[in-house]
Amino acid sequence: MSARPLRLGVNIDHVATVRNARGGFYPDPCRAAHEAIMAGADGITAHLREDRRHIRDEDVERLKRQILTPLNFEIAATDEMVQIARRIRPHAACLVPEKREERTTEGGLDLVGGRERLAAVIPHLAEAGIRISLFVEPEAAAMEAAAGLGADIVELHTGAYAEAALADDRERVARELARLYRAASHGASLGLEIHAGHGLTEENVGDVAAIPEVVELNIGHALIGAAIFVGLPDAVRAMRAAMDRGRARIGAA
Ligand code: PXP
Repeated sequence: MSARPLRLGVNIDHVATVRNARGGFYPDPCRAAHEAIMAGADGITAHLREDRRHIRDEDVERLKRQILTPLNFEIAATDEMVQIARRIRPHAACLVPEKREERTTEGGLDLVGGRERLAAVIPHLAEAGIRISLFVEPEAAAMEAAAGLGADIVELHTGAYAEAALADDRERVARELARLYRAASHGASLGLEIHAGHGLTEENVGDVAAIPEVVELNIGHALIGAAIFVGLPDAVRAMRAAMDRGRARIGAA
């Protein structure tokens, strides 16, 4: 049986981080989105944070106007963000936890403590025709809670796996991969579409690409970092090739 296609969503937040370091208009995240798509990205992800530290409201408006490829709009489950999403109408809204003091999204959503809030906002997004994705820890309980909340998609947080890979801790890598495999299989059995992301690099992406139920990876920091040296189109092509090598392992074993 051939593996299902694996999509690459390119997160362009850090193009905006570099732009904002000096104010002004360049480098332009929308240009990055166009270049990523031309090089083979299947989707664009942008996270509008409460503090607007990278992507700004006008970036999201321009992205929605200028690109035809699916836009995955990452937001916290706040009234302000839900209103913006309902106006922009992205292909999908990926709900993420957000803390002001964090450098990046450090963990998945709290589906117990945050359940009420999520249950309140999800219908407003769904009603606007927006697909609902929840960024979650790769745990069975999270899969069940996400399905119970009516999510279409779960994005599995790969941060712990990426950290283990970076530390070259083989045992921990194997443990984290096993968690990802189990969660992906359980989530898919509940009817959820399975995505994954966070901390993925050309070196560590292959093992995640080899998880059969995963159909989309969202990758930002490593791609924008590589783009400094090789340019964004080549960085996207190299990531795509690494994903394809991992994916090819399905059915080959
Ligand atoms: N997916 C989600 C939900 C995220 O919050 C992030 C980080 O913004 C990513 C994927 C991409 O992570 P990275 O920049 O480490 O590739």
